[in-house]
Amino acid sequence: MVTRGDARRAALERIAALDADVLMAHALGIPKEALYAHPEVTLSTAEALGVSALVLRRAAGEPVAYLRGSKEFHGHELAVDPRVLIPRPETETLVDAALAFVRRSGARTAADVGSGSGAIAIALALGAPSLRVIALDASPGALEVARLNIARHGVADRIEVREGDLLAPLDAPVDLVVANLPYLRDPERLASLAFEPAIALYAGADGLSLVRRAIADLPRVLAPRGAAFFEIDPAQAGEVARSLEVAVGSAALVLYDLAGDARVVAVERS
Ligand SMILES: C[S@@+](CC[C@H](N)C(=O)[O-])C[C@H]1O[C@@H](n2cnc3c(N)ncnc32)[C@H](O)[C@@H]1O
Repeated sequence: MVTRGDARRAALERIAALDADVLMAHALGIPKEALYAHPEVTLSTAEALGVSALVLRRAAGEPVAYLRGSKEFHGHELAVDPRVLIPRPETETLVDAALAFVRRSGARTAADVGSGSGAIAIALALGAPSLRVIALDASPGALEVARLNIARHGVADRIEVREGDLLAPLDAPVDLVVANLPYLRDPERLASLAFEPAIALYAGADGLSLVRRAIADLPRVLAPRGAAFFEIDPAQAGEVARSLEVAVGSAALVLYDLAGDARVVAVERS
């Protein structure tokens, strides 16, 4: 007979303690605290097999968020699976800056290009109750996940999902464009990201092929006094700022994430 304590000890031989606790609690449907409070409780065969399957997958490198099927972003729990990028904490910098713009400007309409799980679109809709958002993505699988999250958070009446290339599906200007498009360099595929979809990560030789094309289309889709916020790799800040200034005709601003890295370039149309 295997107890919670036995299973936890076995897990700790293969994976980090925090991951083990999160995954065991998930597999057993109990709070993490119950693992520590009642290690003597015995597991059914199905429970023991469920725990060890998750531990083996984690030991092989699969992200905890995919194993749990969810990830918290900007205080909201989102469903995630291998069709979407796992939302990152640094993207909250973009959300906070965009929400500050909405409050200051009274923006009514937004487009989230490369919406993935819908993380940014949903955080904006929940943070700005009169904002209408169009969530855009080229991946039908990602948009299925986005639709699920949009429905779960009760914002389907204010977020419309459209499939297509970058900003092409927009047929009318919006007050706000937010973009966390892929920005990693194709030649440098990272083993640590192997479980996430390549379409969500890589963008040409310098990582800017998609951002460049989206910026080129901004003059068509950004309303007067509208603003655009692009998440970037810190090394891309200068080039993205210059491209935005040329496209939109006003000065761009670089914003920093909590780690102190240049993470977002913003521009407002005059
Ligand atoms: C870095 S992920 C960001 C996901 C989400 N916005 C987030 O912050 O967690 C980039 C997203 O861009 C989408 N994408 C890639 N190429 C695209 C294109 N040409 N047009 C629209 N979306 C694209 C991918 O499918 C992916 O969902």
